[in-house]
Amino acid sequence: MTSPGVHPATPSTERTAIVAQRVRTPAPVRARPKAEAAAIAARPFLKWAGGKTQVAGEIVARSPRRIETYFEPFLGGGAIFFALAGDADLAPKHAVLNDVNRDLVTVYEVVRDELPKLLARLEALAEPYLAAALPERTRLYYEERERVPDDRVDLAARFLFLNKTCFNGLYRVNRRGEFNVPHGKYLHPRIVDEPALRAASAMLRGVAISCSDFADALAAAKQGDFVYVDPPFEPLSKTSSFTGYTEGAFDRHEQLRLKWLIDDLTDRNVSVMLSNSPAEWLVGIYEGTRFPDAASGAWRHYTIERTPARRAINSRGDRRGAIDELLVTNYAPELARGRLESASSSSASGKASAGTPKPPRGAGKTK
Ligand SMILES: C[S@@+](CC[C@H](N)C(=O)[O-])C[C@H]1O[C@@H](n2cnc3c(N)ncnc32)[C@H](O)[C@@H]1O
Repeated sequence: MTSPGVHPATPSTERTAIVAQRVRTPAPVRARPKAEAAAIAARPFLKWAGGKTQVAGEIVARSPRRIETYFEPFLGGGAIFFALAGDADLAPKHAVLNDVNRDLVTVYEVVRDELPKLLARLEALAEPYLAAALPERTRLYYEERERVPDDRVDLAARFLFLNKTCFNGLYRVNRRGEFNVPHGKYLHPRIVDEPALRAASAMLRGVAISCSDFADALAAAKQGDFVYVDPPFEPLSKTSSFTGYTEGAFDRHEQLRLKWLIDDLTDRNVSVMLSNSPAEWLVGIYEGTRFPDAASGAWRHYTIERTPARRAINSRGDRRGAIDELLVTNYAPELARGRLESASSSSASGKASAGTPKPPRGAGKTK
């Protein structure tokens, strides 16, 4: 059964169709030409599972127009940071970037602070690899994978080399925290992406980069700031998903802990956007929450939208495909992008309707 306005990828069970009807499928919003131009120079320098490059236009279009400090606590490849920072109109005054992956954070710090040394070291790894045939490339890959880096610059170069030459750009570690992704066998891997690294280094200047849990990274967020959260995807089925960026799994308890933090940020009038998979229970917990609107005091709900995206993180090519991206915001994104929507779609978006009684502050949470 397909409902009008439901994206074709929506699974066909009765229950899912009902959920999908409540979740808007927005008309794709084009990224502004300026953002597209800037994105050429400023783009992720890493391949990252769940990276948001392909939906960056949709996300940037829904971002607040004025951002005091931008927080991205699940940084990964940083697609949205680079898209925003490269947009002359939207670039935040300050940025706080964070990831729980210590090595990934070191890479960002080295790109920001020690780029010439990093480029030289990376070139030294890339040159013999690119000149070799497959058996020798495979040997060099596993030799590098087993090697313990000498220092921070070496760690960053090794991380980038493995990222560009491993299978699918995956990051996966075993119980001992050792990187264990097999060789990728690409013909022409772009190991030294110098333009992207130079642009990133410039954009990271003055940016705070930390390695902690997402909750600690957001402690200082306040009104006027924008928090974009992109946690590991909630699996749509038991077998479907990759969530193994780090040793610990990002399970339902973690998704709930994040939800409660978003509720808390909402109470503090911080603008938040979450992206995730459109897992039914996840949609349900955001739909089931209401909170007082900061300006009017009337009850409102999270705005829940879904936008088409392709997942590329299933190791089996035949299982990759079109799965919508869920976008949840605690503000009205159509106002952010200067497009007031019709009254009919506003009821579907779950905004507080006229005549809703004013709630007491802090009341009404479904946690
Ligand atoms: C879906 S990826 C982010 C992708 C990113 N938006 C991009 O465009 O590349 C999720 C990231 O969350 C990080 N992560 C997982 N658990 C975390 C936690 N508890 N606190 C902070 N970061 C965490 C992972 O290391 C991973 O880099």
